[in-house]
Amino acid sequence: MFHFQHKTALITGASSGIGEAFAEQLAQQQCNLVIVARRQDRLDSLKAKLEQQHGIKVTVISSDLAQPLASASIYQQLKTLGIEVNILINNAGIGHHGAFLDVPSAQHLSMLAINIHALTELTHLFASDMKARGQGGAILLVSSIAAFTPIPQFATYAASKAYVLSLGQALNKELKNDRIGVTVLAPGGVATEFMAASGQHIDDWRTKAIMTAEAVARESLDALAKGKAVIVPGLLNKASSLFLAHAPNVVTMTLGEMATS
Ligand SMILES: NC(=O)c1ccc[n+]([C@@H]2O[C@H](COP(=O)([O-])OP(=O)(O)OC[C@H]3O[C@@H](n4cnc5c(N)ncnc54)[C@H](OP(=O)(O)O)[C@@H]3O)[C@@H](O)[C@H]2O)c1
Repeated sequence: MFHFQHKTALITGASSGIGEAFAEQLAQQQCNLVIVARRQDRLDSLKAKLEQQHGIKVTVISSDLAQPLASASIYQQLKTLGIEVNILINNAGIGHHGAFLDVPSAQHLSMLAINIHALTELTHLFASDMKARGQGGAILLVSSIAAFTPIPQFATYAASKAYVLSLGQALNKELKNDRIGVTVLAPGGVATEFMAASGQHIDDWRTKAIMTAEAVARESLDALAKGKAVIVPGLLNKASSLFLAHAPNVVTMTLGEMATS
């Protein structure tokens, strides 16, 4: 069982939603934090609140992870500050809903830059240090239930999250001997800014399946501490992910399209 107390966790996308919930819950467990996102004002307020409430140390790094040099720069800043990261939570992610050809190419590429490139580079940089120190570590990769099936109208997003699921499952096995636990989080719908920002309009029966960011973070941190390979929070989502993984694509793609439109 991995313990978070008195360690340091780097959380990307901590300025809202699931990332902010991770920050709150790790702070409650006396874990120091490095919080990363673009909106510095939000990160500064979160830092002030968590340091005051929990007596932990919070380091703020404002960074646009869509920029090619962002991950290396975050790593260098932490080296300069002498901060060792024991827990990496690759949470930042974006989605652009819509027909593939209607979404501008630049938006597809920024999805790939954040959801795949930055996540991969940060994992490589910080897992290398964890391995070199020989003291183990924990890495959470935030995917989505969308990873379990191709989704028309959300094609690039679903494909990017399928990459994250595949990468994380492989690394869970590969890094086990180094005592670095790798867990993939694959949430269903979560009540965050993501829904509106990605262009989804969930206002019917589908709202019943929406979870809070706090519940998702709680289940995920428990799975991360136990070194589980994949966590799908919520019973309904667990059942849906099993169905999506095993039913024929012709069925799951239609359901995926309906659930995200
Ligand atoms: N909500 C859902 O239904 C749902 C379902 C499945 C999976 N997920 C995944 O959960 C993760 C967290 O999303 P959320 O639901 O918590 O949404 P959210 O509230 O919109 O949070 C997204 C976070 O990512 C950060 N971010 C976005 N673009 C960035 C960039 N270019 N550089 C740095 N940070 C950036 C945002 O911060 P700034 O804007 O301040 O940069 C924000 O902190 C994502 O990977 C998402 O794909 C969400």
